[in-house]
Amino acid sequence: MNFEEELTRSTELVNNIIQGFLPREEGFQKTLLEAMNYSMNAGGKRLRPLLMLQTYKLFGGGSAVVEPFMAAMEMIHTHSLIHDDLPAMDNDEYRRGRKTTHVVYGEAMGILAGDALLNYAYETASKAFVLEPDNQNVGRAFHILASKTGVYGMIGGQSVDVENEKNANISMSQEQLDFIYRLKTSALIEASMMIGAVLAGAGEEQVKQVEKIAEDVGLAFQIQDDILDVTSTMQVLGKPIRSDEKNGKTTYVTLKGLETARKEVEEISRRAVERMDGLQGENEFLRALILQLIHREK
Ligand code: IPE
Ligand code: IPE
Ligand code: MG
Ligand code: MG
Ligand code: MG
Repeated sequence: MNFEEELTRSTELVNNIIQGFLPREEGFQKTLLEAMNYSMNAGGKRLRPLLMLQTYKLFGGGSAVVEPFMAAMEMIHTHSLIHDDLPAMDNDEYRRGRKTTHVVYGEAMGILAGDALLNYAYETASKAFVLEPDNQNVGRAFHILASKTGVYGMIGGQSVDVENEKNANISMSQEQLDFIYRLKTSALIEASMMIGAVLAGAGEEQVKQVEKIAEDVGLAFQIQDDILDVTSTMQVLGKPIRSDEKNGKTTYVTLKGLETARKEVEEISRRAVERMDGLQGENEFLRALILQLIHREK
């Protein structure tokens, strides 16, 4: 397997699937629809739907039922980015190589575009019930999608992250920081991989293992995001650097230093892959994808 080729091919496939679920820009609410598609079409790595599809394949899945969930996951993730960039939150002006949604469409439309994508995600995922009305796993997957996004998932994590900023002069403990990362970043990655597993018919114990693997992938992913915030460039990342410093955030880099943070990304990612090797089934590409995240530059 040539990893780079496979990544390009798989990302293209994911992009085509997402495209098929985006709303048409028409009607009196056309501006809102344009604002929703603006950020969705800006690209991004598509990591979460990629992980979902590959985990689905790992457990032998092979139908189109996963597709509405893949699109829904990218909509939820994009909603989280649009709102994360708002003036009241991280106040950033670039995302995915473009001006942020609120800069182009105004703050009110930015808020609404985020809300609309979050809701449209559920409208989209619910199409899976129509595709396979007798498939009990669709309901289980829907529940995972909803719960990992909400107050006990991503949004809950973002709320503590906002307080991290307010209390920037008080140093956050590693425990608090881990809580934030597990929710704001790991939760959507957990949902992605768990939904892939559930839809493919994986058993409860296996889904629990997948959740642990994804928690580690998310933690390593966020620590690397913190690292890139201080070591990369806006050209490479497509978003501003030093955003965390600007907002007075405690991060893994401020807490432990760059070298330790780098070591932890590697250790945590390797732990995830080791756990994955213990699962039944094999997916060489998924394994390589997780390991590649250790050295990702964007
Ligand atoms: C950015 O996510 C937000 C974090 C959780 C760090 P990605 O780095 O996956 O962003 P895109 O989708 O590629 O733009
Ligand atoms: C954001 O963390 C996580 C979510 C959007 C849920 P960051 O604020 O570090 O993400 P970036 O760096 O802006 O992408
Ligand atoms: Mg943020
Ligand atoms: Mg941010
Ligand atoms: Mg960041």
